[in-house]
Amino acid sequence: MRQTDYELLDSQLHALLENEHDALAAAANFVALLFNAMDNVNWLGIYVLRGDELVLGPFQGKPACVHIALDEGVCGAAASTMQTQRVADVHAFPGHIVCDPDSRSELVVPLVAHGQLIGVLDIDSPATRRFSETDQAGVEKLCETYCALQETRKYFI
Ligand code: SME
Repeated sequence: MRQTDYELLDSQLHALLENEHDALAAAANFVALLFNAMDNVNWLGIYVLRGDELVLGPFQGKPACVHIALDEGVCGAAASTMQTQRVADVHAFPGHIVCDPDSRSELVVPLVAHGQLIGVLDIDSPATRRFSETDQAGVEKLCETYCALQETRKYFI
């Protein structure tokens, strides 16, 4: 499996987003960039915080569940604790929400702008233990870059 070059991706993300004023377009390109740079991933996208729930935003992969409560699933756990969830085997995660039955491991990173949760980035793999500590650190850095760029815009998605 190809290792993702997170440093290169970070500079590509800057180049792709820094002059884009539209937050939705920026989010869509963020997920497309990352999806195409990661092997063995079947779903990657953003759930946006809308009131007291997460709502499906830009993604790559099969159609997915649209509404996730903050006390539901891996995404809800990441959102409510504001801590990354790196799950080696989703079948062993109580309350995991099955969107694509192919998914076996999952990485969910909270998206925080101006100190507030704006959503989560969710990545699913058909392999167990797909996501290493290096993947977690690399994706967390990309999410920081994405959120810092979103802070410069008037609206989030
Ligand atoms: N499995 C997630 C739900 C979203 S899908 O994987 C796209 C969860 O348990 O929160």
